[in-house]
Amino acid sequence: MYLGLDIGTSGVKAVLVDDAQMIVDQATAPLSVSRPQPLWSEQDPKDWWRATNEAVLKLDTRARRAVRAIGLSGQMHGATLLDVHGDVIRPAILWNDGRSAASCQAMTEACPELHEITGNLAMPGFTAPKLYWLRENEPENFKKVARVLLPKDYVRWLMSGDAASDMSDSAGTLWMDVGARDWSDTMLGLTGLDRSHMPDLYEGTQATGVLKQSIADQWSMARVPIAAGGGDNAAGAVGSGIIEPGEGFVSLGTSGVVFMADDAFRPNVAGAVHTFCHAVPDTWHRMSVILSAASAVDFVARIAGFASEADLYDQTADAKRPGRGAVYLPYLSGERTPHNDPNAKGAFFGLTHEDTPLTMAQAALEGVAFALADGVDGLRAAGTSIDGLSVIGGGSRSIWWGRVIASAMNLPLTYRESSAVGPAFGAARLARLCLDEDAISDICTPPAIDHVVEPDPLLVSLYAERRPIFTQLYQATKGLLS
Ligand code: XUL
Repeated sequence: MYLGLDIGTSGVKAVLVDDAQMIVDQATAPLSVSRPQPLWSEQDPKDWWRATNEAVLKLDTRARRAVRAIGLSGQMHGATLLDVHGDVIRPAILWNDGRSAASCQAMTEACPELHEITGNLAMPGFTAPKLYWLRENEPENFKKVARVLLPKDYVRWLMSGDAASDMSDSAGTLWMDVGARDWSDTMLGLTGLDRSHMPDLYEGTQATGVLKQSIADQWSMARVPIAAGGGDNAAGAVGSGIIEPGEGFVSLGTSGVVFMADDAFRPNVAGAVHTFCHAVPDTWHRMSVILSAASAVDFVARIAGFASEADLYDQTADAKRPGRGAVYLPYLSGERTPHNDPNAKGAFFGLTHEDTPLTMAQAALEGVAFALADGVDGLRAAGTSIDGLSVIGGGSRSIWWGRVIASAMNLPLTYRESSAVGPAFGAARLARLCLDEDAISDICTPPAIDHVVEPDPLLVSLYAERRPIFTQLYQATKGLLS
């Protein structure tokens, strides 16, 4: 039995997977985000630990006793700041926090080789600009920083006492030489830090330590090894068997991601495309990231008065009525790909007396689909070819939304068993691999296909007309509110 833990933004997911790769049990515990100031997005790391314990303890006790290894996955980029005693200095600054745009600009000006080393644009979501911001804006806190850990690695720290991370998640810090799979002294120096502030780096398939006795007792487990694991997107790819060039997925979670595996480091920062290490050795990936995907639909479910998010998905699926009026920009936390604009805003445009909660919900599904289609275009412009995508994440439960996305992208979408489990399932696979690192190609196979959603020709032509309005709407409103 293998335990996969995903420290997400809206909750922690724990999943138990057996040797036949069957999901034996799964549990979640919710988390919330605090937004104390415009552009800020924070969480208390103690809540990750509380939710992790809650989710693990919900799992079947007998199955827990059989766990042989644990794998970790988590929301990427979050800055968890620890002092010399290992205590948390301030709330963690998350991946969708937009406060550090000026720091990104200063870092880019100060380091002409930044793109070459990191393979990425400096974007506010990444970790290094957050520390640059901290040094300038909270110097007392900056002085106390002895260690910076990513969210899942803070949980690891509490589980085993090891300061360790994996390549895929660490690539998202902007402190790594992503081609060399090592920390970059140049990038660390740019934010006033050095290697002593960083965790040790491992491949996602390697063990970083073992569970502390006290935690093992509380969780009814043995002192099992903990795999380095991966950032949630790389772990999701491992769960979907996406490790070879040409294979990719679209993830419909709090964020929305189009991810394509690659066998070499091929950075191309145009269009805010990300290039990071994968969670398996000698492998990289490119991805486009939108900051609000299912979360931008959930937002509309709340403000338009649906009984629940599920109710919105059910009603839009029952109606199957494509939008012809209002257009929705889903930029509720600003946007990364393609705009790299933390000040981008959400909007409904074109509302009339004919609009209803249902038409607004459909516009929301389409707005997110258009933003994801921008991501596909960005990856293609950077030289990645895409013929089809698997779907992972909570949003994969709505087949109608899948039809809308497939049509906006004009690509077939493949839904696989366990696609909603996503990164936690990949983390469980990485747990297994830390006991047998040679088994990558045997373990990282694509789960069985549940169904394939093809683009609908009528929607394809409708969206070809409507997407330019979406594109122009962002350009026309850009900078009006910041
Ligand atoms: C990736 C990113 C998001 C988070 C969400 O760059 O910021 O996908 O990992 O958990």
